[in-house]
Amino acid sequence: MGTAVPAPQCAAGLKCNPFLSIHVPFEFSAVQPTNGRKAQAMKDEAKQVEQEVVMDSIRPAAKTDKGRRNFLISTAGVLGAGAVGLFADALIDNMNPGKAVEALGAPIEVDVSRMEPGQLILAEWKKKPIWILRREEWMLKTLSEPSLLQRLKDPDSKQNQQPAAQFINGNYRALRPEYFIAVALCTHMQCIPGYRPAPHTVTPWWPGGFHCACHGSMYDFSARVIEGSPAPLNIPIPPYYWVSKTVARIGEVDASGFDKNWSPDIW
Ligand code: FES
Repeated sequence: MGTAVPAPQCAAGLKCNPFLSIHVPFEFSAVQPTNGRKAQAMKDEAKQVEQEVVMDSIRPAAKTDKGRRNFLISTAGVLGAGAVGLFADALIDNMNPGKAVEALGAPIEVDVSRMEPGQLILAEWKKKPIWILRREEWMLKTLSEPSLLQRLKDPDSKQNQQPAAQFINGNYRALRPEYFIAVALCTHMQCIPGYRPAPHTVTPWWPGGFHCACHGSMYDFSARVIEGSPAPLNIPIPPYYWVSKTVARIGEVDASGFDKNWSPDIW
C-alpha cells in the first residue's frame, strides 16, 4: 500500500497550489475545483489584494495618471498573488496554439502591441507562468545604479539562468531592453513573486522590482536576485525571439547554434 504524500507546505505557512508544482497562496489558486461560492470568495480576495496594492504608489507620482495607474496596479496585484490561469486569457489575446499543445511545451506567441509602459502580463508556457514586463525608461535606469549592483548576488548574470549570452545584454537580461521576459518562479521554492514596481515599498532602499512574499526574496526589474534573499539565483529567462516588432515567440530561439536541450540550473 502506498504512503500518502502530504500536500506541500510553504515555510510561511501558506497552503500550496498543486498547479505547476508551485507554491502560491492557496486562496488565490485559479485552477482548483470551484463552485459558485468559492469563485465569489476568490473574486473578493483578489479585490482585497487590489485595494491593498492601490495604497502604494506605483512609481514616482509625476509619471502617472490615476486611471492608468489603477489599471496597472490591478493587473500586477492579482498576478502577484499567483492567480495564473484565471487571468491569463483575459490579459493576453494572442496566444497560440491550444492549451493541450501548450502543456506539452510547444512555443507560444505573445502580442505586446497593446501593453502600456510599466504593465506586467502573465502567459503560460510548458506549464510555467511567464512574465512579460514592458519596462519604462526609469525602470531601466535603476538596473545600472551602483547602489543596486552592489546588492546583487549575480549582477553580470554569469550563472546558467539564461539560454545564451545575447539574453544577458548588459543589465537588461532581455533581447530588447523595453520588454523583459522571464519565468515567473522564485528560485528558492518556486513561488510566484509579486510585482512591486513602486520604489521604497519593500525596503527603504527598494528600487522597484519583484518581491517573493513566501520567504522574502527580492529581485530587481531584470529579476536578478538581491543579497539577503533565500533565493540563490537570478530568475530564469526562457528561450524566445521576436517574430516581429510586436510578437514574441516564447519557447524557442532562432539563433543557429543554440542548444535545444538547454535548461537553467533552477527553473
Ligand atoms: S519561494 Fe521562498 S522566497 Fe520565494
